[in-house]
Amino acid sequence: MRHLMSPLDFSVEELDQLLDLAADIEKHPSKYAHACDGRKIATLFYEPSTRTRLSFETAMLNLGGSVIGFASASSSSAAKGESVSDTIRMISCYADICAMRHPKEGAPMVAAMKSSIPVINAGDGGHQHPTQTLTDLHTIRSLKGRLGNLTIGLCGDLKFGRTVHSLINALVRYENVKFVFISPDELRIPSYIREDVLNNNHIEYKEVERLEDAMPELDLLYMTRVQKERFFNEEDYVRLKDFYILDKAKMALAREDMLVLHPLPRVNEISVEVDDDPRAAYFKQVQYGVYARMALILTLLDIHVEEGE
Ligand code: CP
Repeated sequence: MRHLMSPLDFSVEELDQLLDLAADIEKHPSKYAHACDGRKIATLFYEPSTRTRLSFETAMLNLGGSVIGFASASSSSAAKGESVSDTIRMISCYADICAMRHPKEGAPMVAAMKSSIPVINAGDGGHQHPTQTLTDLHTIRSLKGRLGNLTIGLCGDLKFGRTVHSLINALVRYENVKFVFISPDELRIPSYIREDVLNNNHIEYKEVERLEDAMPELDLLYMTRVQKERFFNEEDYVRLKDFYILDKAKMALAREDMLVLHPLPRVNEISVEVDDDPRAAYFKQVQYGVYARMALILTLLDIHVEEGE
């Protein structure tokens, strides 16, 4: 039995297989429509979500399975003091696989240690969000045709943004990937990522504050929201929340084939005037997230759909 806590839980070869599967699902959805008949996913969300929870549920329904779960800690027995360990033991009796989001770093790992079904980390605090990374990799590979030979700008809240942390971990394993980190000083990429992930792997990167300075050299711009829920005081959040706003004027500085991604939700960091730009790929990214999660469910449940089935 396998769990997914971090993108590094899959080798590059396994990730490639999973992304191939996601691409096949996109091309031939009907082939997979009964792959999970009789199976259930439990979505255990102790923290708010729109995309991740609903895309897991859509993924399982598209595979012929069904869904149970809760959308907030307050509507579960966590509100009465039940531990994650006890909850997962019980959920293991109800479902075949589970996706868990929790505000505490490591909570899905605690669940995995007590679980008799595969546990998927659907976002743990400011730590990791591996299924967003599968979504991002599938989007990049589908739209750019490659995961290597890319200069990638990551902009916004690089300190607390778990999607950014997971994506960097995954991308450093591909050839000739360079990063431009665009953030205010207070929201710089954590030092453990600079040291353990970037420097140890000899990855080329630079840090800049002005988005305009980075735009012309990027193949991909990954915008992020300033994570209000992780700030210790409102004053700092208010000061930093509109530090970056991507608009038409800034897009004019970018290459014609640069892609803009965003894990969403967006607040103000991408002006709605950018939405109609053909380089804006963040809503397509949402659709790719369903295929990636369908592929992940099949992989963790070890379900293989043969040609012609
Ligand atoms: N990208 C993402 O995790 O969105 P939600 O918080 O809506 O799930």
